[in-house]
Amino acid sequence: MANDRRPDDFVRITTPELADTFLEEQIGELRAQIGDKKVLLALSGGVDSSVVAAMLIKAVGDQLTCVHVNHGLLRKGEPEQVIEVFRNQMKANLVYVDATDRFLDKLAGVTDPETKRKIIGGEFIEVFAEEARKLDGIEFLAQGTIWPDILESEKGIKAHHNAGGLPEDMKFELVEPVKILFKDEVRIVGERLGLPANMVYRQPFPGPGLGVRCPGAITRDRLEAVREADAILREEFAKNGLEGKVWQYFTVVPDFKSTGIRDGKRTFEWPVIIRAVNTTDAMTAEVEDIPFELMKTLVKRITTEVKGVNRVLYDFTPKPSATIEYE
Ligand code: XMP
Repeated sequence: MANDRRPDDFVRITTPELADTFLEEQIGELRAQIGDKKVLLALSGGVDSSVVAAMLIKAVGDQLTCVHVNHGLLRKGEPEQVIEVFRNQMKANLVYVDATDRFLDKLAGVTDPETKRKIIGGEFIEVFAEEARKLDGIEFLAQGTIWPDILESEKGIKAHHNAGGLPEDMKFELVEPVKILFKDEVRIVGERLGLPANMVYRQPFPGPGLGVRCPGAITRDRLEAVREADAILREEFAKNGLEGKVWQYFTVVPDFKSTGIRDGKRTFEWPVIIRAVNTTDAMTAEVEDIPFELMKTLVKRITTEVKGVNRVLYDFTPKPSATIEYE
């Protein structure tokens, strides 16, 4: 690729026209780099990998194979959307792997947050590598690395999270077509590629997914409660004009139960905690001022629609002292 680093005079992509110019250039470069060879991409459905997938589909069509690993910790409707957009609409070569049981079996009984993250990350690479081995003649690995990833890894803040992790014997040449872009630029490019707005402008979602929103040992029933409550929160935020306005919002179902009452009978069920925060860099965060009427709707819907839940709590804590996620 011609640009390994973001040139000092690179004009920030703020308009559809600038995005189109970038796309035209990059698609040409992708074709030159890849030729008639095959490319593999782990497609999470997040903004960066989705944009890379759409660019490669344009550049090299079915020389690209996308692998979407469902680790069972995705939000409601996510795997379905990846299949709909990429396989059905964009006609991509998409391998969909439902590895839910594998991940949840490995995570059973594991309470330590960092161990949970390691298991999820490690298992992800294993599943992806297994799928890669089934394919013949892959020479390139595409990644949704963006410019802040490179800057942060250079500063030693975080390991370049996209780079590698694959077994030693699996050597691919990297294809990183958005690596000189900032996130806001990737979003504009994604829009020009025809990706749906809720995919391009979606809120940040951690790699370990709902796994870190089900604190302690993950169980299938509690995970289902987190997923259903999260879907209701997202639906209500969208209905009330908060989608795209609030930086990050989600639910957590902690591992304790309290008494309640339903239909005249005593219950002993989980609470759902709602978290909604605003930030620019995730280093500090302020709590969103959710309208009280909306809060009442959320309480009503969550306590009636989500199985095993009898209370709803709102987390008023900024970062610091709390972090955004619960573990
Ligand atoms: P915290 O909880 O540290 O989160 O205030 C800051 C931002 O990082 C996200 N986050 C993660 N993202 N893998 C990720 O890809 C992770 O393990 C992880 N943990 C936290 C979090 O959602 C928030 O946006």
